[in-house]
Amino acid sequence: MGGQVLLFLWVLSLSSVLGQVSYSIPEEMPKGSLVGNMAKDFGLDVKRLKSGKARIFTPDSDEYIELNNDRGVLLIKNRIDREALCGQTTPCALHFQIILENPMEFYSVTIEITDVNDNPPSFEKNDVRFKISESAVSGAKFILDRAVDPDVGSNGLQTYRLEPRDNFIVKLHDQADGTKNVEMVLEKPLDREKHEHLSLVLTAVDGGEPQMTGTMQILITVLDANDNAPVFTQPIYKASIKENAPVGTVVLTVTATDSDHGSNGRITYSVSSILDHARGLFEVNDESGEIRLKGNVDYEKSRAFQINVRASDDGGLVDSCKVMIDVTDMNDNKPDIHIMSKSNIISEDANPGTVVTMINIQDADSGENGMVQCTMNNNIPFVMKSTTNNFYSLVTDSELDRERASDYNITVTCSDEGVPPLSSSVTLTLQISDVNDNAPVFERSSYEAYIVENNTPGLSIFTVKARDADWNQNARVSYILEDSSVNTLGTGTLQHVYNYEVCRTTDSRKSDCKFGRAGSQNVLIMDSSSTGTMQRIQNEKSILDEPDSPLEDQNDNPPQVLYPVQTGGSLVAEMVPRSADVGYLVTKVVAVDVDSGQNAWLSYKLQKATDRALFET
Ligand SMILES: *[C@@H]1O[C@H](CO)[C@@H](O)[C@H](O)[C@H]1NC(C)=O
Repeated sequence: MGGQVLLFLWVLSLSSVLGQVSYSIPEEMPKGSLVGNMAKDFGLDVKRLKSGKARIFTPDSDEYIELNNDRGVLLIKNRIDREALCGQTTPCALHFQIILENPMEFYSVTIEITDVNDNPPSFEKNDVRFKISESAVSGAKFILDRAVDPDVGSNGLQTYRLEPRDNFIVKLHDQADGTKNVEMVLEKPLDREKHEHLSLVLTAVDGGEPQMTGTMQILITVLDANDNAPVFTQPIYKASIKENAPVGTVVLTVTATDSDHGSNGRITYSVSSILDHARGLFEVNDESGEIRLKGNVDYEKSRAFQINVRASDDGGLVDSCKVMIDVTDMNDNKPDIHIMSKSNIISEDANPGTVVTMINIQDADSGENGMVQCTMNNNIPFVMKSTTNNFYSLVTDSELDRERASDYNITVTCSDEGVPPLSSSVTLTLQISDVNDNAPVFERSSYEAYIVENNTPGLSIFTVKARDADWNQNARVSYILEDSSVNTLGTGTLQHVYNYEVCRTTDSRKSDCKFGRAGSQNVLIMDSSSTGTMQRIQNEKSILDEPDSPLEDQNDNPPQVLYPVQTGGSLVAEMVPRSADVGYLVTKVVAVDVDSGQNAWLSYKLQKATDRALFET
């Protein structure tokens, strides 16, 4: 590379400066490169240079340029770095003198060092970090570090490029001091939810040929702004819960998401609206969205609930969803047996088919849990008939007989078809009322009794007893002796005085002896019907049927003296001779007794004697 030679020659009158020459060379020329032929340029002979011991004089340093006296040329002694030599000062030049002796004279040399694009623009740091909110608006500016290019002029820093260009552009801003501020300007807003981290490259470009560049990485962290509302995963949630589920049962969990970060994305759940009947029954966990049962759910009261749940983030943005909760029926209600109408008492002559009770069955449960079947205890003369749905009537099935069973306990048991089934039962007590449908019956088919003769009227001789299976009035028995009268206690009493001896010897058909035949008489027995009418029952049992000798002898006759015959109560005189010996039979007393048996046995004894020693019997 040949230096551009600018030649200025002038002569100063009073000095020994004989000339001045300027060269222009680019920086960075290799050592030994020719700077300029100063011998030629100053019109000097190389011999003069030698004889004059030509040398470079510089107050500073002579490290860059050397003088070759043999050839009369200036050569590069050390590589020159314009930037090291002059920095940003332009023009950049080396000034020195070439001094000769004999005679002493000097020449001024100026070597302008021209810039070569040997430096790329460079940034102080390799990267720079920013935290920018996604809420930053278009036009927001961020100052970037400038790049430095030590080269000057067109080799110096010309411009910047920022890539990628999705969100930012780079703008240069002239400063008062002539420098330029580099600004990164937001053109299109950021979205943390799409890109939380951005990496851009700022390139500084110089104007050299070839162009040189320097880069710096710009790392951007996008800060969250609450620009997203929570969103439920479903607009409507459905769940079902068994009635009577225990408190604390998790019904379901609602979930909302929020794309924002931190507190902007922190979701709190709450119940936004709930109908009165669901109030107090459900609670939502504000953090997890879990909906739990808080009270008792009764299918029979409410079959479904609706809750509106709200999700809000800390920034106050909200979403809401509907939660529909169906309640499933459990078999938790027993059948209810309602007695609509009931007879407590029924007549024993009621016809089969008589309705005794009407029952209505209710079961609050649904479906099979509410389907009810009823049964009744066995072996009773009643049946249950289902008239219409859930209505039953209890009717008599056969004839009733109070005398066999005077009351019934009818137990109706109703069970539903749930699993397990629930049942309830009711016991009805039914009295059977009496009808006079039984005749009195004597305890015995015949009675036998003995009476003594000479009885007193009114004497009780025996008791007859008849029973009647009916009840109360219908069982009250009265006794009547046919053709005679018998008191109602059933005790036979004698109306006549009977004489054994008379009845034995006389015609027994005589009325006074008639008792012995009374047994063949019919006895009339009265009982009272419930209506109060008298009923005559013929040919009941007879009493005193065939007593051979119903009369018994009584010692009712004194002996009677037949001899000596007494007349008119006068004494009977007997004659005894004076000479009568001891043992002489005075007289014989003959007596009889009409009684029978022992009652007729006789014995004799002296009752009254003037002298006991004279007579004996
Ligand atoms: C009916 O029940 C009552 C009370 O338990 C009892 O006293 C009565 O004997 C029962 N009647 C029948 C016919 O079982």
